[in-house]
Amino acid sequence: MSYFNNKVVVITGGSEGIGKALVELFLANGAKVASCSRNYDKLYHLQQIHAGKPLMIYTADVSIEMDCRKFIESVIETFGTIDILINNAGISMRSLFKDVELDTLRKVVDINFWGVVQTTKFALPYILENKGSVVAISSIAGYRGLPGRSGYSASKFAVNGWMEALRTELYDTGVNVMWACPGFTASNIRNVALNRVGKPQGESPMDEKKLMTAEECAFHIVNAIEKRKRTLVLTANGKLTVFLNKYFPTLADKFVRRFFFRNGELVK
Ligand SMILES: NC(=O)c1ccc[n+]([C@@H]2O[C@H](COP(=O)([O-])OP(=O)(O)OC[C@H]3O[C@@H](n4cnc5c(N)ncnc54)[C@H](OP(=O)(O)O)[C@@H]3O)[C@@H](O)[C@H]2O)c1
Repeated sequence: MSYFNNKVVVITGGSEGIGKALVELFLANGAKVASCSRNYDKLYHLQQIHAGKPLMIYTADVSIEMDCRKFIESVIETFGTIDILINNAGISMRSLFKDVELDTLRKVVDINFWGVVQTTKFALPYILENKGSVVAISSIAGYRGLPGRSGYSASKFAVNGWMEALRTELYDTGVNVMWACPGFTASNIRNVALNRVGKPQGESPMDEKKLMTAEECAFHIVNAIEKRKRTLVLTANGKLTVFLNKYFPTLADKFVRRFFFRNGELVK
């Protein structure tokens, strides 16, 4: 029997990409799953595909505190408790800092950082009771600042630091706190990344087919949750970037600059 059988798993941002793959993998492992996102139709479609399985869906914007509170209250009404919270909902951006509107940066931080804090605040009492897990899907950008993605990097550094503090606070409680940092993973994130004025850029500059699949990413995350790991860093490129930045930061500046700029232009 799966370790996750009958456990209640809450996943923010389950309508697309890594979140959707996590929802499907946890359902396949016998968990009861609750997920939220802003777009109801996509979640409803996912629920229809998995009709008959214990999947609760809810429309919520994690940057809004009341949405997070009501989402968690609704999970408790439906399933009675929470064992595992995966703060996955997130959004990216593409603009040099000199050009970006400050509201664009605020929006990214509100979703990626405050979304994690707010959802965790309301779910934590139940996770403490069950000695469960709090997880955040962070990024390599939470270890290494990335040009053109300054708000995204800031939000993910904030997540990593906040999760580390929380992990230390909960050291003796039996709750595991883990931040998982995927590398480039095929998903919708680049299509909907905000441009300098906060609108979706509407394209991906990468060949998504060459990236790690969301399903493989979810597999590694689920495995790490079961092993109650502290952190998870994914992809060879991601691991190399974290290593280089820790031990050879000046060299990392050069490589990262070369990777994200072509002929002096930011790669979006
Ligand atoms: N893909 C990568 O290369 C990569 C790499 C490193 C880290 N990550 C991280 O992985 C996580 C998932 O990203 P992804 O690549 O799977 O992106 P994605 O395909 O764009 O999916 C993002 C999900 O989050 C939801 N979401 C976005 N803003 C939300 C909000 N304010 N409130 C509630 N839900 C919201 C989206 O649904 P709605 O739009 O309907 O709300 C969607 O379900 C993010 O935290 C991202 O930073 C991704």
